[in-house]
Amino acid sequence: MLRDKFSRPLDPAAARLSASTREDATLLPYDVWGSLAHARMLTARRIIPRRDGATLQRGLRAIARQVERGRFRLDPSLEDVHLNVEAALSSRIGRAGGRLHAGRSRNDQVAVDLALYLRDALLDLEFGGTGVVEALLGRARSGDGRGVVPGSTHFQPAQRLYWGQILATHALRFARDVERFRSIRERLTDSPLGSGALAGSSLPLDRALTARLLGFERAGPSSLDGVTDRDAAVETLGALALFHVHSSALAEELVVAAMPELDRVRLDDAFVTTSSLMPHKRNPDLAELARASAAPAIGRLVAHLTLLKALPIGYQRDLQQGKPLLFDGVADAIGVMRVLAPMIATARYRSSPARASADTASVELADALVLEGVPFRTAHTRVSRFIARLATSDRHLSDVAAAELWTAFPELNGGRFRLPTAAEEPERRATAGGSSWREVRRLVSEVGRRARTSSALARRESQRIERLKGALGAPRVRPA
Ligand code: ARG
Repeated sequence: MLRDKFSRPLDPAAARLSASTREDATLLPYDVWGSLAHARMLTARRIIPRRDGATLQRGLRAIARQVERGRFRLDPSLEDVHLNVEAALSSRIGRAGGRLHAGRSRNDQVAVDLALYLRDALLDLEFGGTGVVEALLGRARSGDGRGVVPGSTHFQPAQRLYWGQILATHALRFARDVERFRSIRERLTDSPLGSGALAGSSLPLDRALTARLLGFERAGPSSLDGVTDRDAAVETLGALALFHVHSSALAEELVVAAMPELDRVRLDDAFVTTSSLMPHKRNPDLAELARASAAPAIGRLVAHLTLLKALPIGYQRDLQQGKPLLFDGVADAIGVMRVLAPMIATARYRSSPARASADTASVELADALVLEGVPFRTAHTRVSRFIARLATSDRHLSDVAAAELWTAFPELNGGRFRLPTAAEEPERRATAGGSSWREVRRLVSEVGRRARTSSALARRESQRIERLKGALGAPRVRPA
């Protein structure tokens, strides 16, 4: 196709390098949708005869049904999805097929396909991410959420917390990821279609009409930007990298907490594997894979940015290599979300034996001295010396009775201070956002509210888009 002026066909190795048909399978439904909108507009503006316009609609709708049934195969010798759809159309309806490409270029086609794909993909990410948030909140609200564990810094016991706070805090991060996906989607307002190769068209195109048919707010304000802009792809890869960083942190937490030495998490049998050699093993491989997915996710962001760096404005073939980065990135994230949500929901979260963190009330003790007028730095020194002295006889703060405490810290004598037990400790910190159960409940309900808003907005937008697809007879398939 398109090689009439050349004396030879494209070199076979060059053709292999040039073809994007493998990744373009993802764009196929969107290419058909964009073509339906373009054909409708060409007919409405009488750029093509009404009869041929109707024939184009019929042919493209037949292709759409083929796409929905998974029966459309992309031929690599036709280079990309755009030439494949056009060739299939012409072989179906004959001469009228040749009218479709008036006033458009593959450059604005690939841009519009990408925007349509991305809108659907971001919706799927919003749904998937919300699933992870809800799984975490469900466990935070459960009896397990009330379990007390030492929160740690530097992997050392620091201050005791409820499991619920840990789980809801991971949920908060994922709720922000979902909001980020949404904000990228909400900024996909400009249709690139009608930008042509780079400079628009001398035909009387109605760009506002195609924009409307495809669910955009308007025709983009610069044809040059229309064919060059890949900001949303990069932003998506950025948001995905951050999502994976968040899920790798959660995964790491699960891997560590599932170590028999800690035994704070028991993953369900459906999410562990065993060794081919050691029959006793129960390995958290799925959590490890979720942790590992952050590496290619970060790589894809860097790769895409590098691809764009110093590219002149106007279409350059380099842009083709951004597509698989984006498609693989989305597919990987959705794959991880679909494992994380049920893995979290089915795991058991256990409190730790009090002995494992028997000195964590040290801050409460120092704070009590502050309330008796002791400067904090002095209190810190005295408490740390006291704990060091206990350690020489293998004792801990939790072993100390009131009388002994009053001897060491006479300021407290007669006061109402008592060292908290393990179960009481998180309750002592009632500051906003702190570890008390009241604050954990507030956190859980805020994140829950945000997740419900996110899924309601995504559902509404999803319905709007499916209606638009239905109205034109576009393929109703989702990327994931
Ligand atoms: N396959 C190309 C891509 O994915 C479509 C645009 C081709 N344009 C061109 N001038 N060769 O970016």
